[in-house]
Amino acid sequence: MSIDHYAVMGNPIKHSKSPAIHRAFAEMTDQHMTYTSILVPEDGFTEAVRQFFAAGGKGLNITVPFKLQAFELADSCTERAQRARAVNTLILQANGALLGDNTDGVGMVRDILHNHDGRIAGKKLLVVGAGGAVRGILAPLLAENPAQVVLTNRTFDKAAQLAQEFQTLGSISAQRLDEPRQPFNWIINGTAASLQGAVPELAPAVIDEHTCVYDMMYGKDLTPFNAWALQQGAHKAFDGLGMLVEQAAESFRLWRGVMPPTANVISQLRAAMASTGG
Ligand code: ATR
Repeated sequence: MSIDHYAVMGNPIKHSKSPAIHRAFAEMTDQHMTYTSILVPEDGFTEAVRQFFAAGGKGLNITVPFKLQAFELADSCTERAQRARAVNTLILQANGALLGDNTDGVGMVRDILHNHDGRIAGKKLLVVGAGGAVRGILAPLLAENPAQVVLTNRTFDKAAQLAQEFQTLGSISAQRLDEPRQPFNWIINGTAASLQGAVPELAPAVIDEHTCVYDMMYGKDLTPFNAWALQQGAHKAFDGLGMLVEQAAESFRLWRGVMPPTANVISQLRAAMASTGG
């Protein structure tokens, strides 16, 4: 039986959890496949993709810093990838063309709905950040019909621009970082602030005892944003580990036609992070 090859490309790539996640999915669903990680030089992305598929590869995940290049390189893209202007999944089609998709947003939405028993429909959402990470989640979030999405960012103009771009998809408006003063049902942190140990300067009034927060970052410890939110009395705080696994599951489904179970993989990764700190 022939074996199908998949990989994740990025730079850096050493700490990527994708190989472990996809190998676990393959084992659980009896798929005959390999999944490796490939470190790609900053200026060598197109060539690396070409080589991978020329050698018989079937699909790729793409991570930092190549998601925009993958979007430009794909022969066609799904609507959600076009809206995100970023591709994290390349799928080799029967005619040899490469289809680009973005599974990040649907991964986050599934994590909220299925793993955390959350609701988005009819709820008030505050989305913080206006970079690539937020661009990737807005269409799948708006597709769940929230009552209202307020988009806020340190650099207001970027939030205003994004809100304008997505306004045909639902109720979305931009505000300055310290402008929202009423409690939200969900606050989603899509900024890179946690990487610097910082927290976006939101008014504490955006949180009450019913507010759930979701930081797209994850780590061994509470992220700075989630720690801040819990200090302000938030109901619950979730990090982005479930999103990581769910976006992988959606890629796997696109490639293999099988939706893998995710709960055990999430808890195993959580346990491994707690013991190794990674
Ligand atoms: P990504 O692709 O991860 O979204 P990005 O496009 O560089 O990365 O965007 C980073 C986001 O984090 C931006 O919204 C940025 O705010 P600015 O647009 O004002 O730069 C936000 N960000 C980064 N550090 C921050 C901090 N210390 N406080 C608040 N927001 C921060």
